[in-house]
Amino acid sequence: MSESTNGTNGTNGREDQSLAYAPVAGTEGAKRGTTKLKIFRGDAEGGEFVEYETDMIEGMVVLDAVLNIQAEQAPDLAVRWNCKAAHCGSCSAEVNGRPTLMCKQRVNEYEGEIRVQPMQAFPVIKDLVSDVSWNYEVSRSMTPFTTSQQAPFTMYEEDVERLYEPKSCIECFMCQDVCHVLRTHHKHPEFAGPRFFVRGQWLEMHPMDEANRLEYLKDGGGGIGYCNITKCCTEVCPVGIKITDNSIIPLKERVADEYYDPAKWLMRKIRGRKGSRNGSSNGG
Ligand code: SF4
Ligand code: SF4
Ligand code: FES
Repeated sequence: MSESTNGTNGTNGREDQSLAYAPVAGTEGAKRGTTKLKIFRGDAEGGEFVEYETDMIEGMVVLDAVLNIQAEQAPDLAVRWNCKAAHCGSCSAEVNGRPTLMCKQRVNEYEGEIRVQPMQAFPVIKDLVSDVSWNYEVSRSMTPFTTSQQAPFTMYEEDVERLYEPKSCIECFMCQDVCHVLRTHHKHPEFAGPRFFVRGQWLEMHPMDEANRLEYLKDGGGGIGYCNITKCCTEVCPVGIKITDNSIIPLKERVADEYYDPAKWLMRKIRGRKGSRNGSSNGG
């Protein structure tokens, strides 16, 4: 997620209403009545859902409706967004209790009530804006890409293809929001969460990376053992990363290889080398 506040309103006292959202040119003639949204208004101290009614424009997404309301009825409504194209990951919130990219979800896909609130796994700052800074702390706690090789690298095409999926993460943190280990059990100090298993997959599978993050993933804050493969994270990922199948399970296998396979453990002790990254049999 970008930390920019280009599209954030209501949190920084911005006065220039001309920067507020205006309907996309050409949609003026496509109005289809009105739509109602219940939007959380409040902060860390508490709040309530407030109902708003706004024009329903053909093809509009939830973010359109929220920004219309902000522009016409609630200028102090805080909402974070940047690209409005499902690329930056900034506009993640919960719609009817499900983590959602507001700029991707069309209003007409909801038949009944539309309740919009900030992500619940993180502290709320104001209205629809939650404080996701914990994720950046987790990111810093993981050993970054480490190599003694000189770029540009020569890599097999299959390695490049395999790294493409985890690299497509837009850091919306919706997988973090839906994961019960964080959301319900609040294991934030011990559990990095699915977004960082995706990142861990990218790093551990990169053929030029030389660091070993398995200790971190097991006991050093990654806490991958807490994951019980419910696949909720995969179901909400807006870019279609198969988080459980392609990131978590291969990393769990590597951790098991490293720490629970007695023969491999003994061989590594004897040889005195890491031997974990290239020893996986999962194709990862
Ligand atoms: S599969 Fe694991 S990481 Fe993903 S939501 Fe379930 S418990 Fe969390
Ligand atoms: S893995 Fe998917 S759901 Fe999780 S932060 Fe990245 S893009 Fe969002
Ligand atoms: S505004 Fe960028 S992903 Fe929604």
